[in-house]
Amino acid sequence: MAESMKEAVLAVLRAAGSGWVSGEELSQRLGVSRTAVWKQMEVLRSAGYTLEAQPRLGYRLTGAPDSVTPDEVLPGLATRAFGRQIEYRESVGSTNELAKQLARSGAPEGLLVLADEQTAGKGRLGRSWTTPRGSALAMSLVLRPELPPVLAPRITLVAAVAVAEAVREVTGLPAGIKWPNDLQLFGRKFCGILTEMDAEMERVAFVVCGMGLNVNMDRADLPEAFREVATSLKAEKGETFRRAPLVQAVMARFEDIYGRLTAGRFDQVLDRWRALSITLGQEVSALSMAGEPTLTGLAEDVDDDGALLIRTEDGILVRVMSGEVSLRPR
Ligand code: BTN
Repeated sequence: MAESMKEAVLAVLRAAGSGWVSGEELSQRLGVSRTAVWKQMEVLRSAGYTLEAQPRLGYRLTGAPDSVTPDEVLPGLATRAFGRQIEYRESVGSTNELAKQLARSGAPEGLLVLADEQTAGKGRLGRSWTTPRGSALAMSLVLRPELPPVLAPRITLVAAVAVAEAVREVTGLPAGIKWPNDLQLFGRKFCGILTEMDAEMERVAFVVCGMGLNVNMDRADLPEAFREVATSLKAEKGETFRRAPLVQAVMARFEDIYGRLTAGRFDQVLDRWRALSITLGQEVSALSMAGEPTLTGLAEDVDDDGALLIRTEDGILVRVMSGEVSLRPR
């Protein structure tokens, strides 16, 4: 009840834009006493909203917190299903772990787990991932695609295109995709994607697609070991970004591109992936798990499984399914 009252007050204040809403009007529209209205203003203030109150004019909203609570994400969300149901945590071990747990107990496609901070964020290949409080995005989307498990890796390509396009739209920065699914700006990584799946032999039960974005971290806040190779949107653009509009843009793009995948048009996904790729056309070294170069050549294309096709110096086309590549200066 308290939560829905807060949402109702916010909705009325937001609808008034920068205008005033009298205490009388609020109490009538919400069917509660003036004292209850006043109490809700305190609830909003403690959640980080800034409000003005004037005896004869009433209340008006002057600022909202940069948070990714449902209160901030839902109002500007333009999707049919993705992100319509949100599980928000101020702090969580890993949003992917929570999303998997919720998916196992029946969470529907489109459910989005969001957290302000992760204390045990997971990266690819058993690595860890840092999501400091207040300056990054950690989100995990539950999907239930009707796909055989072998085709599930396609979802990671969908996610990479979604994030790259959303970041370009919201920030104007030229986000690109480094195979397989790192997102980079000017040669440095600002986003990683971790896709996990639960499947039987023939069909996928669910997929959890986890996306971590460095948004407003200063260079000094980036983990020291990664300072040379990592970056954030703020570090590149020199301005801070509100996180909720980024979530909204990623969800809208994701729903659109995923729709193409499930409609049998993976070719369109690949075309968009190719257009955003910073790997194709480059000389690359494929790296082993230990980081040793295993083969070098020209990154020619990706195939229908998302595998990278590398043309070696002997003219042989080698298919690299997973792992990592480094771009070689020419
Ligand atoms: C990578 O190694 O590049 C992948 C990083 C993925 C990080 C995201 S943050 C949200 C989600 N929850 C996790 O624990 N990991 C993913």
